[in-house]
This record gives sequence, structure tokens and C-alpha cells, in this order.
Amino acid sequence: MSSLSDHVARRRTFAIISHPDAGKTTLTEKLLLFGGAIQLAGAVKAKGELRRAHSDWMKVERERGISVASSVMSFDFDGNAFNLLDTPGHEDFSEDTYRTLTAVDSAVMVLDAAKGIEVQTRKLFEVCRLRDMPIITFINKMDREARDPFDLLDEVEQTLALDVTPASWPIGMGRHFLGCYDLFNDRLILVGKGAKQGLPEIGEPCEGLDDPKLETLLPADALATLREEVDMARGLCKPFDMQAFLEGHLTPVYFGSAINNFGVRELLDGVSQMAPPPRPQPTAERQIEPAENKVSGFVFKIQANMDPKHRDRIAFVRVCSGHFKRGMKLKHSRTGKFMTIHNPVLFLAQDRELAEEAWPGDIIGIPNHGALRIGDGFSEGEDLRFTGIPSFAPEYLKTARPDDPLRAKHLGRALQQLAEEGAASVFKPLVGADWIVGAVGPLQFEVMADRIRTEFEVPVHFEPTSLFTARWVKADEPLQMKKFLDANSTAVAEDHDGAPVYLARNAWHLERGAKDWPDIRFLKTKDHVE
Ligand code: G4P
Repeated sequence: MSSLSDHVARRRTFAIISHPDAGKTTLTEKLLLFGGAIQLAGAVKAKGELRRAHSDWMKVERERGISVASSVMSFDFDGNAFNLLDTPGHEDFSEDTYRTLTAVDSAVMVLDAAKGIEVQTRKLFEVCRLRDMPIITFINKMDREARDPFDLLDEVEQTLALDVTPASWPIGMGRHFLGCYDLFNDRLILVGKGAKQGLPEIGEPCEGLDDPKLETLLPADALATLREEVDMARGLCKPFDMQAFLEGHLTPVYFGSAINNFGVRELLDGVSQMAPPPRPQPTAERQIEPAENKVSGFVFKIQANMDPKHRDRIAFVRVCSGHFKRGMKLKHSRTGKFMTIHNPVLFLAQDRELAEEAWPGDIIGIPNHGALRIGDGFSEGEDLRFTGIPSFAPEYLKTARPDDPLRAKHLGRALQQLAEEGAASVFKPLVGADWIVGAVGPLQFEVMADRIRTEFEVPVHFEPTSLFTARWVKADEPLQMKKFLDANSTAVAEDHDGAPVYLARNAWHLERGAKDWPDIRFLKTKDHVE
């Protein structure tokens, strides 16, 4: 039987970050295919459609053709156990994505070879950087007209301030894309040599780029260009440095074409060999080591209505330490109460099943009726408050009104639930009866209105406000806080946890508040640990 530390060493928990359309879905599908988790490429999408067809509240999602819900996919490869956490690509749901990134140990950044770094890539990268997360880069769509590889590497280095080391080097592009040379393992991988189904071959092992064998495998001009370019790239880029990679300062870069299965094997090998096993997790009390015997974990995401027939919510918990077994009694940090985890769910590529056990780095789903919230921790008894799971100040604020004024109380309950799930920020101004709802993107309001209508049977509309933004306010001295709240009662609200929030009418109002109240901190993010 393997020990806890063996299980830890085998785990790779990661996410794919990309701008919409760069190829995240295609790559996910191929990774699952090669990991043996799905039989046929296309299954990820098919499953998505099936799920959408079954769920009413996801109407908006279906109409817009975007995936709001994110999930976890587990598969084995190369003796390691992978957990791939899917992140919604649409920018309106980036808050969900940010929190998902708190539950992974590394990320694969997918770029479109014709486009390079795009807005959303950059935003997501910044979140990874906050956590010094190791990143492996995959430059996709080399089968199309692409930008010059040097230009792409330079862009990653310059715009993200991240050192790059090419892990493979492309031979041609577009219609003339012949394949790649694997610089880490000295292998030539040619397009068309890989099986369309199943794992592509490992390529032709070489004795470096001077191996005369290459002359029989590649046209003379392509080989000359390859040798020249790799020579240049080696001169320009830093050699691979594991420590710098693990600290998030250097990214190995693969080139490929996900749709043609090309380069995916090398990427998967790269994740297996380079990406780190579960990292220690910070809490307000102490750092938790994954190989500790006692079980601990935290909720990073809540999803309602995964099964529309049951009004359940699933709390996604990242196991941080210990060997979790079904039926365990764990202490819920926020309430201090013990909960028996009877029906934890494990997510497989196509299915959910009961989790009999789980190890550090694994994600389990805990069905509940609202007791669990984002940021909540679990332990075998110790008081642990996990840090670094943020809420973000919303960029869009609207007033929520029930179509039928008599349903105001029901609306309040619905909004509280959505806020606890992390689907929106909800603020109750100290003065007045309205609810102010905040979102990071406008589409979130449509999804919310749809859910409130169908799940809570409260027809609701959102009206524009004259508010500019919201900031959580904090002070070291309770007296200072009281003074501030008394003087600004018309501009202060409470969030769903009762934390005070300053609602600014405009940028000047916000600046003025900060200037007039130097002892008050105006915060754009709220850590769930106070
Ligand atoms: P996303 O999840 O990042 O949004 O991207 P997705 O995988 O859905 O890919 C976006 C589009 O790019 C899709 O085309 C997909 O087929 C295409 N694509 C992905 N990888 C490659 C590649 O390596 N080479 C080329 N040439 N295209 C690639 P679509 O027409 O928008 O969708 P579909 O009809 O093919 O599903």
C-alpha cells in the first residue's frame, strides 16, 4: 500500500488559463483522451450540451453558447494522478475563475499562435503571479498562419515579465508546419506520425540537432532553419531552471496544434514531470503541509443546481492534507461544528461518483443545503482559517427589485444565497430598503435574474444605480470605524456576511473618502478570513 507521501507526490492539480477561443476546450478534450478518461474526442462538448439540455436555469448559458459552470476532471497518466480544474472562459465569470486558481498548484497557459497574449490571458496570468504559480505555456494552432516564434516568446517575456525556455521548437507553420523538435528530450516529432485516436508516438529519438539522421527525416532547408533558430533561441533564452519555474519566474514553452493532437503528448509529459505536487497551504494559524496525517481542506467554489432535479448545492473542497475517507467527521471552521461527510462526490471526466477516499490535491464535492460557503475550512478538530481566497469589489452595481413588491423578503433570501455561493456581491445599505447587487460583468445579472425567477420563483429586475464602485472598509481601531460609519451612513452598506462596505458615487467621492479618513482602509478585495 502506498503511503500518504506517495499519494501526494503523484498528484498534479492544475488549470488551463487562456483567452476565449485560444483552444482550451480542445486541449482539455485531448488531455482527457490521452489520459484515458474519455473514449472519444468530442465527449467534453457532448457532455456539456447534455448537461445544458437538462438544466433550465442555464438558459442564458445555452443561448450565449458559453460555459458558466466549471468542473473538475480527474485522470491518470504516466503513473501520476491529474486533477484538471476547468475555468469558465467568459470574462464576466472571472471571479469564479480566480477562486478556482486558488485550488490548483500549477497552470497551463494556452496562447493562440496568431494572437499571442490577449486581454484575458494577461488578467488570469496576474492572478497566478499573485500566488507565484508555476506556468507551462502551450502555443496552439501552429497549423495555421502564426506569428514568428521569437516574436511570441519575446511577447511572453516582455508583457508578463516572465523568463521563457522553449521546450520544443516548431518546424514551419500553417500549411508548411512539419512538426516540432523536442528540446528537452531530443526527439523529432513529425505531424501525421501521431495516431488520431490514442496517444501519439513519442517521436524519433536523436543525438541532438547535429544528428545526421535528421538529414533523412527533414528537407534540407527546414533542417537548416531549425538548427539556426534553435541556436539563436538557446542564445537568447535562459536554460530551463526548475527552481525558477517552481517559483513562477520562468515558463517552459511548447508549440503544437491541439486539434491535430500535435504537441499534446509532450505537454502532458511536461506537466507530469515538471508541475509540482500539492503545495503547502496558508492558513491564518499556520502553514499546512500536504503530507500531514490529519485531513484538512477548504471550499473554493459553490455550485448550485448541478442536478436540477434536486435543489442541492455542491461545495467544491480542495483536500489540503491527510487521507480523507467517506463518512469522516470533520470540523467546519466557520461554525465550529462537526459534520459527517456522508456523500462526498468525486468528479470524473464524464461522471460524478461517490468518493470513498481522497488525497491532498484532490477535489471532492460536498452536497449541502447552504451550510457551506466559499472560504470555509475543514479539519479534524484544529481551528484553521484558510487565507488567500478572495472576493473582488464588483465593477457593476445595480439595484434589485422584485416585480411584485410583496415578494421583497423572498428576494432578500434569494440574494443572500447567491452571495453565499459567490455568484454575486449583495449589499444592504444601512439606510433604505433596497438591495444593491454587484457583479464583475454585466452578463452575470442576466444569469442571476434567470436563477432567481426559476429557483426562487421571484420575478426580479435590475435597475441602474448612480453608484460607481464598492470598497470593503476596515480600521484597526473600532472607534475610528464607528466614527466613519456614523459620518457616512448614507454611503455605507453591509455585505452578506455583515462586513461594512463603502458605496462610492464616483471616483472623486472614493478619493475624497480615502483622503478624509486616513485611518480607514478601502479594500478592493476581501479575504474570507477577517
Ligand atoms: P476555447 O475553449 O479556448 O474557447 O477554444 P476552443 O477549444 O473551443 O477552440 C476555439 C476554436 O479554435 C474552435 O474552432 C477550435 O476547433 C479551434 N482550434 C482549437 N485548436 C486548434 C488548432 O490547434 N488548430 C486550429 N486550426 N484550430 C484550433 P471553432 O470553429 O470556433 O469551433 P468548432 O466548430 O471547431 O468546435
